[in-house]
Amino acid sequence: MTLILAHRGYAAEYPENTMLAFKEAEKAGADGLELDVQMTRDGELVVIHDEKVDRTTDGTGLVKDYTLGDLRKLDARFKFKELSRREQIPSLEEVLEWLAGTRLVCNIELKNSIIPYEGMEEKVIDMVRAYELSDRIIISSFNHYSIVQSYLLAPEIEIAPLLSEGLYMPWIYAQSIKAKGFHPHWRAAPDQIVTASLESGIEVRPYTVNKESELERLFKVNCSAVITDDPAKAKIIREKL
Ligand code: G3P
Ligand code: CA
Repeated sequence: MTLILAHRGYAAEYPENTMLAFKEAEKAGADGLELDVQMTRDGELVVIHDEKVDRTTDGTGLVKDYTLGDLRKLDARFKFKELSRREQIPSLEEVLEWLAGTRLVCNIELKNSIIPYEGMEEKVIDMVRAYELSDRIIISSFNHYSIVQSYLLAPEIEIAPLLSEGLYMPWIYAQSIKAKGFHPHWRAAPDQIVTASLESGIEVRPYTVNKESELERLFKVNCSAVITDDPAKAKIIREKL
């Protein structure tokens, strides 16, 4: 069965990368989550997509210039201003602690292509191990050096390269870096690529699949997972097939 991974949580309906969005994704029946990790000035791992806080909070400036304490003072309600409660930027630890009590899988995307956060891989791995989540985590990044580094540090945790463009034979590339799967943009995941990859034992989890026709196509071709902003919609489509 194709798994449904909630992109930045249930981002279609709730503020992305917040505990609210993650908990609502679980309630909506998602099989797992996708989230983004950056690092603070005091070396803490935090869950936020952009290098800057400007788009998704009421603050300004780079995540790397904030301490965790100061970041937590920001309101991460984002465009969902009608919500009565403020939302905080979660620490990765807060998410993993909660995740450990669920059955969800989780794709942790290391956002270290623009800012090469030193030691990020070790910190993420230590935390995943501390919560005994190694078999439910997939570490991905557009920075493929970083995921290879993660694999070398923790071969028991799955890695997956993010591919924004189509590759001729992405499954061969994945195998060459010891990845058991890859995460392509949905346009780089036509049926032939999905099928050839699965036949080679390589999982394919396209992002960010929000169009109904694409969700339907990827379910029909038995893709390993879809990463989507709307896990509830995806679930309805999966159940209809
Ligand atoms: O993990 C897939 C997807 O999240 C990558 O793109 O920009 O949404 O982090 P982005
Ligand atoms: Ca992401």
